[in-house]
Amino acid sequence: KLVYILNGPNLNLLGKRQPEIYGHETLADVETRCRAVAGEFGLEIRLLQSNAEHQIIDWIHDAREQAGGIVINPAAFTHTSVAILDALNTFEGPVIEVHISQVHKREPFRHHSYVSHRSDAVMAGFGIEGYELAVRRMGTLLG
Ligand code: DQA
Repeated sequence: KLVYILNGPNLNLLGKRQPEIYGHETLADVETRCRAVAGEFGLEIRLLQSNAEHQIIDWIHDAREQAGGIVINPAAFTHTSVAILDALNTFEGPVIEVHISQVHKREPFRHHSYVSHRSDAVMAGFGIEGYELAVRRMGTLLG
């Protein structure tokens, strides 16, 4: 089974961007770690990143045909995008939301997530290990 791992704006700069908040590892490192965990569960992953809201929506639509589950770090779109929420509501499998940082101890505007209205589970503050834990949970849910 295939799991989409979708990443929103500025996460292409992971490792370089505010490392005191997001750490020094890159999205390529996230992909390597997730692929290893997925392998333990006989899952495949497809990790994608875009700075464009419409692209993320199109990938969620693709996931309807292609993927058993979606792991998504919508980044700043978490806090703004009804459109991404609506897209996720068209997807029937499990959705796990990941935030590298502990958004609830940051600025108040990061405390609300539109995506959480749909997410079956939420990781926040586990660093990039949050992605691995999300994939592990997908293994349970899709196994
Ligand atoms: C983030 C938290 C968001 O508030 C922020 O806009 C991001 C990354 C996280 O992974 O901690 O870009 O989703």
